[in-house]
Amino acid sequence: MADPRSRPAARSAVGRLDRQAMRLAAVRTYQREAVTRIGYMVRGGLGVDDLARAVTEFVATAIDVPRCAVVEVLPDDPDHLLVRAGVGLDGVPPGSVLEAGTLSLSGYTLMVGRPVVVRDLSKERRFRSRLLEQLNVASGMAVVIAGPDRTPYGALSVLADEPRVFTRACVQFLQSVAEVLGAAIQRCRAEEALAAERARLELRVAERTQDLGEANRRLRALSKRLIDLQEEERRHLARELHDEIGQSLTVIRMSLDGLAEAVGEESLAARVREDAARVDDLIAQIRALSLDLRPAMLDDLGLPAAVRWYAERVAERAGLAFELKVRGTESGLPPNIAIACFRVAQEAVTNVVRHARARRLRIAIAFGRWAVALCVRDDGIGFDPDAVRRISGRDMGVGLLGMQERAMLLGGRFRIDTAVGKGTAVRAVFPLRRRDDKKGGSDERVGAGPSCG
Ligand SMILES: Nc1ncnc2c1ncn2[C@@H]1O[C@H](COP(=O)(O)OP(=O)(O)OP(=O)(O)O)[C@@H](O)[C@H]1O
Ligand SMILES: [Mg+2]
Repeated sequence: MADPRSRPAARSAVGRLDRQAMRLAAVRTYQREAVTRIGYMVRGGLGVDDLARAVTEFVATAIDVPRCAVVEVLPDDPDHLLVRAGVGLDGVPPGSVLEAGTLSLSGYTLMVGRPVVVRDLSKERRFRSRLLEQLNVASGMAVVIAGPDRTPYGALSVLADEPRVFTRACVQFLQSVAEVLGAAIQRCRAEEALAAERARLELRVAERTQDLGEANRRLRALSKRLIDLQEEERRHLARELHDEIGQSLTVIRMSLDGLAEAVGEESLAARVREDAARVDDLIAQIRALSLDLRPAMLDDLGLPAAVRWYAERVAERAGLAFELKVRGTESGLPPNIAIACFRVAQEAVTNVVRHARARRLRIAIAFGRWAVALCVRDDGIGFDPDAVRRISGRDMGVGLLGMQERAMLLGGRFRIDTAVGKGTAVRAVFPLRRRDDKKGGSDERVGAGPSCG
């Protein structure tokens, strides 16, 4: 058989076919690229609206049509569809609604659940779209965009003003784009739901934090009130013991003295003197008890004297060498700070005697312009604060917690420096609010407080 290309007519027919094939190949390449680029945009994290708009622009160019639209199913309105994005849809901006069902191309496509191709709208019998008639559309096609669980999200449609034959490859291209878009929209929705859930959780955390802060403030106020009441009660008991019981015992003691002299019989007088000695002991005990409850010298002689009196007595009984260093002068120290400082010293000294197995006890008190600082140090066995926390199941033991609480309630700081075998230093700093200090005591000016040497 002769080669058909040898004849001129056949040669030009073959040339035309070659050109068509090349054009088709170019279109396919552009379409493949379009799907890839849409994939990039999806990964780029665009939102649903931006993505839908970009997709309609790409598709319109890739298929060479003047109009393209993405419409969305409205869950609460089966009669209408929402226009999400579109190009060439004059008078139908995103956000407008279309008729669903057999009153639009997209509606019909969603109804039948598969691609719909319209070659000639004037001959269309399956649906009737007034909008397409108004836009003078001649032909078009639409595919379903799948949503979660195969429920449709919406439809992607292209419209041409001239009669067009949409090839199977063209329909497949539109379907591929719809699949990429559907997956992207599902991901966007999931991310939006996640972000909303995260925001909801963050709000709850913020609310709970606020509640906790509020509860903390109330606890602080309660704690402060309890400490104040306890101090008031102690002061009252101390005064009662000293003024009432102590005075009465002194009167009894004096009358016993008189009785011993008045009694003629020596054996009887000796018994009265024994009773008088017992009353002396009782008076001493009452006095000690009263001072323990509230050292009157704190009010009369000031903080260093009260601390010295207390610690010296305890150290002597425990056989500890004791040293007190005072820096600065105590003037106008508010009574609540004086008592808090004394109570911290009292608990810290008690701890040294009870737990430290120390040889030396050193206390330093520094009165600054902005703060008063206290340090109680021993050279004993030290301890592991973490282990104390683990055993007590709380942040600290009750005594340590009490010291910290007293410092915190007055806006101060509390610190323990200790390690097993390294002794212990307990430090508390209480800010002073001077009349010329508008903002109150500043921690920066307080420094780390005194060191016990
Ligand atoms: N100076 C110290 N040297 C060694 N261990 C100490 C010292 N101070 C405290 N500890 C350890 O820390 C623990 C907690 O002290 P904390 O004062 O809180 O409680 P406590 O003294 O045991 O009882 P309380 O509630 O009566 O004060 C102590 O049991 C002890 O093991
Ligand atoms: Mg203790």
